[in-house]
Amino acid sequence: MTSDLSITIAGIKFKNPILTASGTCGYGEELAEVFDLSLLGGIVTKSITVKPREGHPPPRTAETEGGMLNAIGLANVGVDKFIEEKLKFLEPFETRVVVNVAGAAIKEYVEISARLADCPRADMVELNFSCPNVAEGMTIAGSAALAERAVREVKAVFPRPVMAKLSPNVTDIGEIARACEAGGADALSLINTLVGMAVDIKSYRPRLTNNTGGLSGPAIKPVALAAVYKVSRAVKLPLIGIGGIIDYRDVIEFMLCGASAVQIGTSLFVEPDAPIKIIKDLKKYLSENKLGAVKELIGKLRPY
Ligand SMILES: Cc1cc2nc3c(=O)[nH]c(=O)nc-3n(C[C@H](O)[C@H](O)[C@H](O)COP(=O)(O)O)c2cc1C
Repeated sequence: MTSDLSITIAGIKFKNPILTASGTCGYGEELAEVFDLSLLGGIVTKSITVKPREGHPPPRTAETEGGMLNAIGLANVGVDKFIEEKLKFLEPFETRVVVNVAGAAIKEYVEISARLADCPRADMVELNFSCPNVAEGMTIAGSAALAERAVREVKAVFPRPVMAKLSPNVTDIGEIARACEAGGADALSLINTLVGMAVDIKSYRPRLTNNTGGLSGPAIKPVALAAVYKVSRAVKLPLIGIGGIIDYRDVIEFMLCGASAVQIGTSLFVEPDAPIKIIKDLKKYLSENKLGAVKELIGKLRPY
C-alpha cells in the first residue's frame, strides 16, 4: 500500500509535512550539500529584515540540557540580497519556499512582504513576531492588537498565503492566535523559542553576550505540543507545529494535537539529514499502520 504524504495548507500543496525551521539552516545553501532539498515538503528561510544585520557578537549560542539557547540577533543579508541571490539559489528545487520576515515595526513587515509579492518563488510568508517592536516598545507576538494589525497590513500587499509565527512567551497564546485569524492569517506556525538563560559560574557571566536567549530543542517539545493543542481549539486555521522534533514519533504527536505539518529546527545541528530520515520513517509508519494518507492523523487526538 502506498501512503500519501502530501498535505495542503491554505491551498498550497506540500509533498510531505516536513519543513525546516527558520534560522536553523540559513537560506538552504549548506543543507543542499547534505541532501537534495527537493525531498523536503518545504524550506523556511532565515528571518529577513529590510536592511542587512550583523546580529549579536559571539557567543550567541550555548548548549543546555535537552536543547540550546540562541541569541543570534537576526543576522541576515537583508531583503535585496535575499531576493537577488538566496531566492534565486532556491529556485530550481522542487520544494515549497516559505520566506520568514522580521522587523522592528509593522511597516517593515509590510515593506518586505510587498517586495516578495513580485517573487512567485516565495510561496508563502511567515511573519516572525518575536522581535522587539521599537515603535511600540514590545513584541508584536505579545500584543493581540498589534498582531492583528500586522497580519491585516501584510495581507493587503502579499497575494499568496500569510502565516503568523506565534511565540510561547505570552500569557494566552490562544488570544494571539484568534487575533491573527481576525487579521486574515491563512495559517499559523508555533512555537518560536522560549526565553531562557545559562550562566558560567567561573566568570559569573551569562553564556550569551545578549544575557538571555531563546531555548529550543527537545526540552521545549511538551510546551510546543500543549500550545498546538490549545491553539487548534481556539482557531480554525491550519497549524504548523515546531519545537524539539527529532524523529517521526514527534511528528505524529504534533499532528495528532492538530498540526497539519511541522518544522524541524535544532535537530539539524545534531543530524543535518534528520528531515530525510523522518520522511522515510513516517512513510514506513503509515504503511505499517495501514494509513492511506498522513493527513488522516491531523487532530485525531483522543483527549480526556
Ligand atoms: C540558531 C537558531 C536561530 C533561529 N533563528 C530564527 C529566525 O531567524 N526566525 C525565526 O522565526 N525563528 C528562529 N529560530 C526559531 C526556530 O525556527 C524554531 O521556532 C525553534 O528553534 C523551535 O524549534 P526546534 O526546537 O526544532 O529548534 C531560531 C532557532 C535557532 C536554534
